[in-house]
Amino acid sequence: MNNTIKDIRDRPYLTESEILKLNFINDSSNYIFRKYYRSGLRSHVLEILTATDVLKETQGEIKQGVRMFPRAKPKKILRILRNRFKNKKAVFQEIKKYHLLLKFLGPEYIAESEEFIVDYTGTGKNQIILCGLQEYVEGEILDPWGICGKNFLSALFKSTTCNNYKLSAIVKKARVNIATFVKRIRHMIAETGYIPDLAGFGNLILTLDGNLKLVDINNIVKIKLNDSIPIDDKGYPSCDVSVEVLSILEKDILQKNIKIDDPLYNLFLSPLRKVKVKTLEKKFYRNL
Ligand SMILES: Nc1ncnc2c1ncn2[C@@H]1O[C@H](COP(=O)(O)OP(=O)(O)OP(=O)(O)O)[C@@H](O)[C@H]1O
Ligand SMILES: [Mg+2]
Repeated sequence: MNNTIKDIRDRPYLTESEILKLNFINDSSNYIFRKYYRSGLRSHVLEILTATDVLKETQGEIKQGVRMFPRAKPKKILRILRNRFKNKKAVFQEIKKYHLLLKFLGPEYIAESEEFIVDYTGTGKNQIILCGLQEYVEGEILDPWGICGKNFLSALFKSTTCNNYKLSAIVKKARVNIATFVKRIRHMIAETGYIPDLAGFGNLILTLDGNLKLVDINNIVKIKLNDSIPIDDKGYPSCDVSVEVLSILEKDILQKNIKIDDPLYNLFLSPLRKVKVKTLEKKFYRNL
């Protein structure tokens, strides 16, 4: 039998009792840590709930004579990154990239996070892990691959309000926010040469009141203006696909005409390059 303790970064998920046993978690009876129902490949995404809210969720509360079981909403999201950093310098570099993102997008367009490093001792060794205590964003996933027609935003928000006046105001607000988001991402690319990962499913969330937030704030990659297609640490061409997502937001949601001589799209969205990117994507999904 293998008695070695598996590093939490290699575990598919962590149970609540395992989370509480982590040397960098302070077990407090006021808060409950739970695996968030959405997840990704690069981090453990955990919700932090108050014990009172969880009690209401499980035992219910009487409202106007009826027992209701309201969903406990996270107060914060705790993210434990699976990345193995070579040294402290590399971790600080990662945190620096997050601050760059915050500077260019502003707290309105990202789920703000307090990035911090911990000394994880769970395997018997001292290891640096990057974590983030992040704002929880409630809303609908903006799936760039699921945009059909120019009334996409109305359809998305329709279920949340039956008042047509309110609906058109929210759609208008969401459009303005998406336009500002695109502008800020383009500014970030122009000034720093970095682009955040816009491609992953669930990375962009539209809140019910029409705000757009990037929640996946750790995979920020360098754009190289040449013919090589960079792949990230997971083997995914996230840089190219993120540029494609940016173009989808502009073309399909904002209905903008993209200029043929746009240098970014000219290079990244050339038909030959897109074929190569598709091949890399297929390889990535085959290896999952
Ligand atoms: N702060 C947050 N608020 C609400 N939902 C979140 C938050 N952070 C992450 N999520 C959701 O959890 C899921 C996984 O998040 P994320 O994409 O950041 O994971 P990851 O493991 O870091 O990255 P990757 O997508 O590269 O595998 C996504 O569906 C995302 O919408
Ligand atoms: Mg993601």
